[in-house]
Amino acid sequence: MINVILLGFGNVNSHLLRAFSESEEAAVIQVFNRSKIDLNTLNDIPFTSQLSELKDADVYIIGIADDAIASFSEKLANQNKLVVHTSGSAAIDVLSANNRRGVFYLLQTFSKQQKVNFQKIPICIEAENKTDLKLLQKLGKAISNNVVEVSSIKRARLHLAAVFVNNFVNYMYQIGSEILKEDELSFNLLQPLIAETASKIKTLSPSEAQTGPAKRNDKKTIEKHLHLLESEAHKKIYKLITAQLTQKYGKEL
Ligand SMILES: NC(=O)c1ccc[n+]([C@@H]2O[C@H](COP(=O)([O-])OP(=O)(O)OC[C@H]3O[C@@H](n4cnc5c(N)ncnc54)[C@H](OP(=O)(O)O)[C@@H]3O)[C@@H](O)[C@H]2O)c1
Repeated sequence: MINVILLGFGNVNSHLLRAFSESEEAAVIQVFNRSKIDLNTLNDIPFTSQLSELKDADVYIIGIADDAIASFSEKLANQNKLVVHTSGSAAIDVLSANNRRGVFYLLQTFSKQQKVNFQKIPICIEAENKTDLKLLQKLGKAISNNVVEVSSIKRARLHLAAVFVNNFVNYMYQIGSEILKEDELSFNLLQPLIAETASKIKTLSPSEAQTGPAKRNDKKTIEKHLHLLESEAHKKIYKLITAQLTQKYGKEL
């Protein structure tokens, strides 16, 4: 059994708590958070907000804001323990060298209220030596069928790509919902389209899957859309992406 302590209790670590509690190979033995949390979510797992009260564990998982990882890891006692972070963009060496360092990056989007299936989530691991890498592999396999070793440099690119396909796409949903609100149309009308767009990318390349007025270079439709858009920010985004798409795919009419 691999004993784990979760440091921070935001989106990622609260999901990890649930995933580990359903696994037979790993157990969370303590949760730390700098501020109080709802203890009902912990299922009797001991909680502390004092770093001096941390127990002995095999792996310490820091699930806190990227910018705080370095200074937070400096505050951990120097005990040659395996301390990992869960960030996509932070390099392994942002962690203090006071302990053994590693990365346990879950390539998925987590919101506290949304359950996710861990089995399919790629877990990108990194460590400074083979023994720690093996331990992280075992820990990852306890909750997922997809554990891969990825260096800090490659993980940074993976995270960048993830920002485009997840965060930016989600922002497009936001723009879509704002446009519909102006005419009191339900966002639900777009759900089948959103589902199909995500689904067809499983078999087609992004380039093959691309459709729309910019790809067809339908100039009149593009002008009409720009006229309909009220927000200057939305106009800017529309123009920028349309220009890119036209350049990549646009045919002369
Ligand atoms: N959310 C995702 O979809 C996702 C996916 C993959 C990887 N990650 C990575 O996972 C990590 C955690 O992200 P998250 O979304 O779970 O974060 P989150 O929900 O925003 O939670 C942030 C956590 O960080 C703690 N924190 C912030 N600043 C701190 C500081 N200076 N000292 C100590 N604790 C501090 C917060 O404590 P308080 O409660 O006291 O404020 C809270 O527990 C990040 O590295 C992120 O890049 C996130």
